[in-house]
Amino acid sequence: MSSETPSTSLENLSREDRRFPPSEEFSAQAVATSELYDRAAADREGFWAEQARELLSWSTDFTQTLDWSNAPFAKWFVGGELNVAYNCTDRHVEAGHGDRVALHFEGEPGDTRTLTYAELTAAVKQAANALTDLGVGEGDRVAIYLPMIPEAVISMLACARIGAPHSVVFGGFSAEALHSRIEDAQAKLVITSDGGYRRGKPAALKPAVDGALAKGSESVEHVLVVRRTGQDVEWTDGRDVWWHDVVDSASAEHEAQPMDAEHPLFILYTSGTTGKPKGILHTSGGYLTQATYTHRNVFDLKPETDVYWCTADIGWVTGHSYIVYGPLSNGATQVIYEGTPDTPHQGRWWEIVAKYGVSILYTAPTAIRTFMKWGEQIPAEHDLTSLRVLGSVGEPINPEAWVWYRRVIGGDRTPVVDTWWQTETGAIMISPLPGVTTAKPGSAQVPLPGISADVLDDEGHPVPNGSGGYLVLTEPWPSMLRGIWGDDERYKETYWSRFEHMYFAGDGAKKDDDGDLWLLGRVDDVMNISGHRLSTTEIESALVSHPKVAEAAVVGAADDTTGQAVCAFVILRGNAEQGDDIVTELRNHVAQEIGPIAKPRQIMVVAELPKTRSGKIMRRLLKDVAENREVGDVTTLADNTVMDLIKSGMTGSS
Ligand code: WT7
Repeated sequence: MSSETPSTSLENLSREDRRFPPSEEFSAQAVATSELYDRAAADREGFWAEQARELLSWSTDFTQTLDWSNAPFAKWFVGGELNVAYNCTDRHVEAGHGDRVALHFEGEPGDTRTLTYAELTAAVKQAANALTDLGVGEGDRVAIYLPMIPEAVISMLACARIGAPHSVVFGGFSAEALHSRIEDAQAKLVITSDGGYRRGKPAALKPAVDGALAKGSESVEHVLVVRRTGQDVEWTDGRDVWWHDVVDSASAEHEAQPMDAEHPLFILYTSGTTGKPKGILHTSGGYLTQATYTHRNVFDLKPETDVYWCTADIGWVTGHSYIVYGPLSNGATQVIYEGTPDTPHQGRWWEIVAKYGVSILYTAPTAIRTFMKWGEQIPAEHDLTSLRVLGSVGEPINPEAWVWYRRVIGGDRTPVVDTWWQTETGAIMISPLPGVTTAKPGSAQVPLPGISADVLDDEGHPVPNGSGGYLVLTEPWPSMLRGIWGDDERYKETYWSRFEHMYFAGDGAKKDDDGDLWLLGRVDDVMNISGHRLSTTEIESALVSHPKVAEAAVVGAADDTTGQAVCAFVILRGNAEQGDDIVTELRNHVAQEIGPIAKPRQIMVVAELPKTRSGKIMRRLLKDVAENREVGDVTTLADNTVMDLIKSGMTGSS
């Protein structure tokens, strides 16, 4: 394993021997069957071709399932044409499901809106017409910076409908972060709102867009603004337009044009090991096939009867694949919720489950651990009997949280699926199948039918059962990223150079004695804070951009609730004063540069940083300090007294 030891210890996990076989009743009605594995194993590409044709509606059938001749640049469903938005809206109306609810929107203040498939289709058509009128055409990029309101879903689908790739930027990111993403993608339009509701108050968004554009963004012609909170906004005439002025008055007639299967659908930025976020590129046919297939099979979706709720934000890939594209392509009924879990009280989520009769819930371990802390009496006050499948995503789920989730939320009855995937993979890759798999708490278990994964040692050899190593994907898959926007070299370098012909995920994993997979966290300089990916280097660059900071090192330290927490070590410039103020100032500076989620939990002012003779910061040792552990091997340090200095400086500071 690499020098960054995964946060969950192998020994602890090996002792986990609880098993949860599917009940007979569940299996009897399950969407997924064990035959899926056999079919996919017999003919992997044929299996995907079958899924693509069965699950989606194509305007032109494809002639080749996979073209891997220019690896690692894949083309799936070559020659096929489809419109992604048509697949997520119109086709359900045409099939007679126009009256089915697509979205139950619950605003944080308690306001609600319901959109049927017919209404959603009409809204998307209007938005598509409005975007066209604003000069957005096929191939133009659109940045979306919105709270969790129906217009977020409508905007994404409107872009898909006209073939304009969207780049959704999480509303918690700063003006600075938004600016760099707008610039990198050269977006022509930004869609935002005056604000959204968070923790009981309106939180502004438009000022961040104004701030981002004030830094200079030549490519942006218009800003389309949804009125959500009614807050005052600054207005740039000629540039800014209200959604209600141009979308509500637009025609609801719009014919979706077919796009090539490989037409770019979206770019989504994610943190890598360097300071610059990577624009992960996804295309149309393969992405939608796998998003649809996984959403149906992993969650045992019955579109006629289920009420599905994924608690993610559309700013993350989970929101793209499992709020927008997967569920809507499947014609599911779902809940979207704008706000935080404890507004106005800690039972809000369970109130929502009871109110809408949610049957499938998909959330993150960090949320589950928070609910464990709040106590089981809170969910117990609500009727959760509608729930029948629970999902987890974003980080390793510890067995205790898994078992609690099943017992307290799932009434000791529901399957729990721990789903491993990444922004890059586009859709779920490793997960049990409800009704088929005997679940092991804490393990994502097996690659889905059609997916091939392995765990390799340092030399690239598969490890035997019972051992750990690096997770790789050994065959291309339909929803794989097609590259990094504008940086083919970085794509090859990051994912395809560590091991020959295999996709390197950046995660550590272990195969247990049955060959089941246990994910162990990142093996690179990427942290996982509440299921969100943050780069140590990105936060370090934010810190050193402050005039008082000479040097900075950032590590992700284990945290009971958030999985990891950001801990920073900084060396101040000679003339800067120490004290509490500087810590607050630096935390706010990071929030301003990247966003509040990147704020370090702890900042420690030190005189030196541990470095190797070649000048590389040894984050492993700082992590030992941040996690209050005995400091590991210091023999490769250029100056091995540094750690003593840091530790003595540390006394009483944390
Ligand atoms: C990283 C990807 C996948 C959508 C949300 C995060 C970690 C994700 C699991 C899981 C253990 C997981 C990995 C991965 N991760 N799901 N079920 N068990 N780890 O997407 O921001 O692209 O982050 O999240 O470390 O590499 P992302």
